[in-house]
Amino acid sequence: MTTSFTPSRMVQDLQRRSQRPAARPGPELISLAQGDPDFATPEHISQALTDALAAGATHYAQLVGDAELRAALAEQMTDVSGRSFDIGQVVVTHGGSGALAAAILALVDPGTRVIVPEPTYSLYADLTWMAGGEVTFVPHQPDLHLDLDAIEAAAPGARLVVICNPCNPTGAVYTQGELEDLAEIAEEHDLWVLSDEPYDHIIFDGVDFISALEIPALADRLLYVNTFSKTYAMTGWRIGWAAGPAEVIGAIGALHRTINGPVNSAVQRAALVAVTEPTDWPERMRREYQARRNIVSRMVAGVENLELVQPDGSFYAFIRYGSDVPSADVIARAREAGVAVRSGAEFGPSGEGFVRVAFSTGRDRLIEGMERLLGVLEEVAAPA
Ligand SMILES: Cc1ncc(COP(=O)(O)O)c(C=O)c1O
Repeated sequence: MTTSFTPSRMVQDLQRRSQRPAARPGPELISLAQGDPDFATPEHISQALTDALAAGATHYAQLVGDAELRAALAEQMTDVSGRSFDIGQVVVTHGGSGALAAAILALVDPGTRVIVPEPTYSLYADLTWMAGGEVTFVPHQPDLHLDLDAIEAAAPGARLVVICNPCNPTGAVYTQGELEDLAEIAEEHDLWVLSDEPYDHIIFDGVDFISALEIPALADRLLYVNTFSKTYAMTGWRIGWAAGPAEVIGAIGALHRTINGPVNSAVQRAALVAVTEPTDWPERMRREYQARRNIVSRMVAGVENLELVQPDGSFYAFIRYGSDVPSADVIARAREAGVAVRSGAEFGPSGEGFVRVAFSTGRDRLIEGMERLLGVLEEVAAPA
């Protein structure tokens, strides 16, 4: 006898709405799809993991994170923000993904409205839908910066706005003025602001990166999320954190420990070394990403009818091809040509007509992959 299985309504809903890929591209493709640095994790961090295992860090850690690691992260955020963070304001999570999940589930009830300026990282909408909330997508301006008037118009009755800075997939880095204006809107309409900042160390051409932590007017309403994944090339280690006012962090911690339990003990010891023993690795990687960004920009500029707003940060290029061929079809054609990229539509309704390239892949494969992609885009692109 076969049993018929119907997943929970939450899963059905998620599967119906999510445009996130369910698997990584196979080895037969050049992948410019995933934001996974091709660099090895810096050796002193890997060594710290080995040392931690040898020293017996093989048991449960504290449920919401090692006190020493939380203290180091609190100190780092105190330095950036100029106001005091303590360990009661930090939860160590399974990557930035774990922090985002706990933060969104902690704030969103069925029917709660969440403002999502887009195109943006697709997990924010998926998690809101999972919680039964409603997503109000607010398209960015043509320069891919926040449309503050439209955010303000959407604000009445909403509870939360989620920003990604620097933005995945656009590479936009929001200005201090933009963040201050957002804070004013948040205050006026009593919104929480979730700022997800995994690419804060990947900024190009000396552009000024201002963390939401640095905006005093956000202090009481900011949920801050970050991860070790991108800065230290630690995507596979699965460690990140959430920070914010203590009572919200209490709620986030309750979700985190209920769903996940504590993060791997030895990984937390190694993460502590990443935070407390600075190296030039993040800067070396940043320089290489900038060189790759320049390669991608030059290659795109060589094809008629394609547009790229130069990314100021992150390791993504969001390329507009502008015709009405759906981006899901364009990426299917790209796969046939041997390269995996992501469809613009995954990142929100106004991402349609774009594809996202991740230049976290080494130069040779990046160039080969871009040639394959541009061959496809040349065929589908239309004049702006
Ligand atoms: C904007 C953004 N937030 C969060 C994450 C998730 O990070 P992690 O791998 O630490 O879960 C990613 C990963 O691509 C990302 O781009």
